[in-house]
Amino acid sequence: MSKVKILSERSPESSVKWSQCGAGRIPMGVADMDFKMDERIISHLQKFTEAGDFGYSTYQAYESAVTAWMKKRYDWDVPHEWITFCPGTLSGIAILINMLSEKGDAVMIFSPVYNRFFDIIRYNGRKTVECELINNDSRYEIDFQDMEEKIAAEKVKVLILSSPHNPVCRIWSIEEQRRITEICRKHSVIIISDEIHADLTLPGHVHSPFLKNNMDYAESIIVTTSPSKAFNMPGLYMANFIIPDESIRKSYLASIWSHPNLFGAEALKKAYEDCEDWLEDAVSYIAENYDFLENFISVNIPGVKLIRPEATYLAWLDCRSLDLTQKELMELFLERAGLYVSSGTDYGDCGRGYIRMNIACSRETLERAVTQLMSATESLPSI
Ligand SMILES: Cc1ncc(COP(=O)(O)O)c(C=O)c1O
Repeated sequence: MSKVKILSERSPESSVKWSQCGAGRIPMGVADMDFKMDERIISHLQKFTEAGDFGYSTYQAYESAVTAWMKKRYDWDVPHEWITFCPGTLSGIAILINMLSEKGDAVMIFSPVYNRFFDIIRYNGRKTVECELINNDSRYEIDFQDMEEKIAAEKVKVLILSSPHNPVCRIWSIEEQRRITEICRKHSVIIISDEIHADLTLPGHVHSPFLKNNMDYAESIIVTTSPSKAFNMPGLYMANFIIPDESIRKSYLASIWSHPNLFGAEALKKAYEDCEDWLEDAVSYIAENYDFLENFISVNIPGVKLIRPEATYLAWLDCRSLDLTQKELMELFLERAGLYVSSGTDYGDCGRGYIRMNIACSRETLERAVTQLMSATESLPSI
């Protein structure tokens, strides 16, 4: 029997996903899941609340939990000393951008990509250089020629990779990672591989941590991972930053100057050590949701196509055949179908004609959502 339980009620007062969507709409925006955290993690945390001891605690076990998880999941031996943490992936990436580049320097991203990457580059006074991914028959690919030309022309200093990629759901193969490395090495670009979604790799696909197969360039690669998406605990703000280069690591640690939050570290430990079976159930649930979604829209909603997912619960819908402007497309989803989804253009201009839909919800909710979408699209002239 599946260990996944659906959260019975999420409060608009405490949940961003539920507060932003407005009454009457189905929340399918912000990237967290409607799944209740594994009971074993909840009771583990309860031990600390009951004892009432929130003094400074020891954290040695945190690093061992991370290294053991990387070994178990990815057969990757990470030296203990490479592991650092951050209360949140974005904060850590922002620190690294500031450390590894100067104001005005160029930072590359592969768009369409997680919208906050645009924000942290801009807010830190760097220049965003987009290398647009190519939708090749519903599977996105990197345009390596464009990547290299832009890196050379803009003198890019840092590349931020979403691996797996949010949105578009790609797992970057070892060969693709090698090509990225070769180009970056040629032009001395530092690579930050954000692997927050890695543990949500779908059955039949294999994620490989960027550093594992690119150790010959390790001094210029940083990998960030986290239990937050996979175990549905983003509110605990716990991210791991794996930094092989000693001088980068020292400067990074000098900027963090802290220890992991007690709850974040304990939840991570419990999840990594004892709850892999829960994660497997959650991934199966998501995979079945994808199957249902794909079947339903292919039969009932012509004009909408699911990009083949390899990881994450963030379905990327190609709606270009509906022939609507982005404003009309959002109106269709938000107002006529009552679904709070994210506009493709949030992830860059090349997301025009697309919608991102968070399907980490109950099957019933997903069924309701697509039925509402089907009714809303039936009256469209392009259908
Ligand atoms: C690729 C990616 N990186 C980072 C984050 C945010 O991570 P955090 O909340 O730990 O800063 C998200 C959230 O959706 C994401 O998709």
